Amino acid sequence: MNNRIIVAIDGYSSSGKSTMARRLAAQVGYRYIDSGAMYRAVTYYALEHGLASSDGRVDTSALIAALPEIHIDFIPASDGKQHTTLNGKDIETEIRQLRVSNVVSPVAAIPEVRHELVAMQQRLGLEKGIVMDGRDIGTTVFPDAELKIFVDASARTRAERRYKELKEKNEDVSFEDVLSNILSRDEIDRTRKESPLRKADDAISIDNSGMTLAQQDAWLEDIFHKTVEKCQK
Ligand code: CDP
Repeated sequence: MNNRIIVAIDGYSSSGKSTMARRLAAQVGYRYIDSGAMYRAVTYYALEHGLASSDGRVDTSALIAALPEIHIDFIPASDGKQHTTLNGKDIETEIRQLRVSNVVSPVAAIPEVRHELVAMQQRLGLEKGIVMDGRDIGTTVFPDAELKIFVDASARTRAERRYKELKEKNEDVSFEDVLSNILSRDEIDRTRKESPLRKADDAISIDNSGMTLAQQDAWLEDIFHKTVEKCQK
């Protein structure tokens, strides 16, 4: 008997999808996978190996050639979260920095990078019981996901949230830099050729600009349980 489902949560940068996905997974005993962390890990590798620079330039062919050397995993950490590893090294802190955010969207627009990561994401979902967040989870990675959510919030709200997060981690950033990074990633993610960010036709939309975490959790858990019930019939 397997009544476990796949939950796909997509949306714009810093819309709160990761928080939403992580909390739902913990609540219902599913595995949470942050697909954005995988694109960030590839980007971090590229920066560390001189294959990309923080002004957004990427040596595409060298990065494609290096893909077999890039091994990404998730390990449970002492803070209760899952940390992303790259070739065995915990890089959770590094991949959240603005220097990675500034180049991640050009890296994520490279079709070969996407093919590699999408295949890995699909393997992680083989046994279902997974909540995955990203940009193309409901459209490309799991087009048959039983529950698809599309999250949005105004760019200013999203920038305020991300700015606060980075400040709490003592990153030396300005609000304007964070806002401009969000707007530029929105644009690249939405207009790239390979699986651009868009709402799947059968996804449920939510704008969480004015919602508290508790309201958001309650809304999502209710839809989750209704979906599982419907799938059992
Ligand atoms: O946390 P935030 O919403 O800022 O971004 P993220 O989920 O960590 O994703 C970082 C970047 O990876 C995005 O801006 C996209 O360019 C890319 N990405 C993607 O192309 N497809 C995904 N499934 C997830 C992320």
